[in-house]
Amino acid sequence: MRRGFIGGNWKMNKLLKEAKETVENLNKSLTLSRGIDIVIFPPYTLLYFLKDLIVLPNIYLGAQNMHWEENGAYTGEISPLMLKDLEVEYVIIGHSERRNLFNETDEIINKKLISALKHGLKPILCLGESIEERKKGIEKDVIEKQFKHDLKRVPINFLENIIIAYEPVWAIGTGLNATPNEAEEMHKFIRDLIEKYANNNIVENIRIIYGGSVRVENVEELSSKDDIDGFLVGGASLRSDSFSKIIEIFNEVKGF
Ligand code: 13P
Repeated sequence: MRRGFIGGNWKMNKLLKEAKETVENLNKSLTLSRGIDIVIFPPYTLLYFLKDLIVLPNIYLGAQNMHWEENGAYTGEISPLMLKDLEVEYVIIGHSERRNLFNETDEIINKKLISALKHGLKPILCLGESIEERKKGIEKDVIEKQFKHDLKRVPINFLENIIIAYEPVWAIGTGLNATPNEAEEMHKFIRDLIEKYANNNIVENIRIIYGGSVRVENVEELSSKDDIDGFLVGGASLRSDSFSKIIEIFNEVKGF
């Protein structure tokens, strides 16, 4: 059985005082299960302060992005070495907000992915189609293209360290989640892609998580699908009560 994974992507939210309160409340309210990895992805500015506040086992820190180079003249960027220096373990790569608002191409995402793996960071690779692409019925072509380009030249022995997040762009921040069946169908398709391109028996070990308007209200139904190994939660991760509840429900349904 694959381990569960729940990430809280705080995006560009929270100042120090509020972030500390949220983490302290999570420390109190979370009922942990050995079978789930929980990762908080705060803005870069909070990583240093939060690392010592996270006291529970199975809770880790992640970054929302990184540059692929170790250092150099890249004003405003953060390198994988800097993340490792702060004991960060996970990093989100290729979130649709990075792709769409900051023009990150599959080529850039591929460089970041390889660099993260090389430095021992565990990447969450985000894939997802737009509403126009889904309406045209080409969502699987879009996901396959992203998958193929983003994972180019990634050594097979590194694959197991990658978590893939299916995050349809139309479901992010809209309150309109993919139905459990839509998500399950795409997760199966992504698993088939891993098999097709990696042609290896690790396929069953790779975790595929869903993101896009995950809430306390819909998490039970989404968790009931076999191919959904967890969630990347945006808005509902900002409050410790809703984030804890999501983890609790997921844990109950999966029976970790
Ligand atoms: P929401 O949960 O706010 O829709 O955001 C999802 C997301 O982008 C997680 O990375």
